[in-house]
Amino acid sequence: MKKYKVAIIGCGNIANCAHIPAYLKSGMAEIKYFCDLIPEKAQACVEKYGCGKAVVDYHDFLNDPELDAVSVCTHNDFHSIIAIDFLRAGKHVMCEKPAARILSEALAMQKAAHESGKLLNIGVCNRFNTYVEKIRELIAAGELGEVYHVYASFRAHRSIPGLGGDFTTFAASGGGALIDWGVHYLDLILFCCGDPQVKTASGAAFSKLGVDMKNFVYTGMWAEETSDVENGTYDVDDSVTGFVRTSGPMITFNGAWAQNIGVSETYIDFLGDKAGIRLNYCGDFRMWSTKNGMLTETKVNCRTTDMYENEIRDFLRCIGTGEHNRQYIDYAVETSKLMQAIYDSSASGKEIIV
Ligand SMILES: NC(=O)c1ccc[n+]([C@@H]2O[C@H](COP(=O)([O-])OP(=O)(O)OC[C@H]3O[C@@H](n4cnc5c(N)ncnc54)[C@H](O)[C@@H]3O)[C@@H](O)[C@H]2O)c1
Repeated sequence: MKKYKVAIIGCGNIANCAHIPAYLKSGMAEIKYFCDLIPEKAQACVEKYGCGKAVVDYHDFLNDPELDAVSVCTHNDFHSIIAIDFLRAGKHVMCEKPAARILSEALAMQKAAHESGKLLNIGVCNRFNTYVEKIRELIAAGELGEVYHVYASFRAHRSIPGLGGDFTTFAASGGGALIDWGVHYLDLILFCCGDPQVKTASGAAFSKLGVDMKNFVYTGMWAEETSDVENGTYDVDDSVTGFVRTSGPMITFNGAWAQNIGVSETYIDFLGDKAGIRLNYCGDFRMWSTKNGMLTETKVNCRTTDMYENEIRDFLRCIGTGEHNRQYIDYAVETSKLMQAIYDSSASGKEIIV
């Protein structure tokens, strides 16, 4: 079987936790380059995984005729630049979520993908989560009846990632809790509900608890090594709320990287007129119905698979078939439209027609 030659661009957390192990495990790919602006990070991957070449500037292999595909695992500010460069060079691209910082960048990525005919998938990994797939199947089979409202809560007590680093700097990330966490929840909802179109959105984004970085109280954080409380920036939302009309269900949500409520509530409620489901984010779900005149509660258990391995394996499969799978850029653009509308609504104080 032909092994695709791939490059990893950005050798940080998500590359090491998800993309690299998934490529190596797939048996369908060979990593030819590890690229990072910090040479030691690229070199550490070469040594850790025993393959590939360390490179600092991706332009050095942009036109390598042997290269089939790249994974873009940099922070959000480089997603569109790198993805577009590689699509134009005739390579397939797997790019981390969110597609981009702002809608215009996501649309430029979509245009480049369409023009090049190459794949551009966005790493909205929950589309390959086993329980999420089951919910999509149940909704499509009519088990919930009409799904009229979906509510998402992605609220944590103290969970701002890399305080003062890329995650909390608007120029690097394009936003905070909404773009970093909300993207997963909102994309997952659209996926489960058969990818409806977003019609209008109203929202408010707040930057209240993280701005005073030096006095922010926490116990631990994701990407702590990228944190820079002394000299860094905090200019993004740490909580957000929204009200969205779609061609399918109404979507409402509350999200917070940080809030003065000491509990984490991370779940999605799918409310149908026949049955309802509560999905524990990254976990299992329960379903309630009134089938046959009885109040029924079903706790679901099934054998799960690794969503990161699934997304990379399916990306590689689609390189062979040319298929646009569930992570194709066209779907991610809908989520980008939604998030842009929430930020625009927050800034203008008005509802946005998408
Ligand atoms: N799918 C998920 O569940 C998930 C989880 C975490 C992060 N992410 C996403 O992954 C991306 C990276 O996050 P992370 O936590 O791995 O960050 P990170 O800071 O750990 O890694 C990013 C790496 O990219 C490198 N880099 C930046 N610009 C570059 C460039 N132009 N060329 C080469 N290298 C460059 C940095 O030096 C750094 O090593 C973000 O977009 C984030 O939203 C996704």
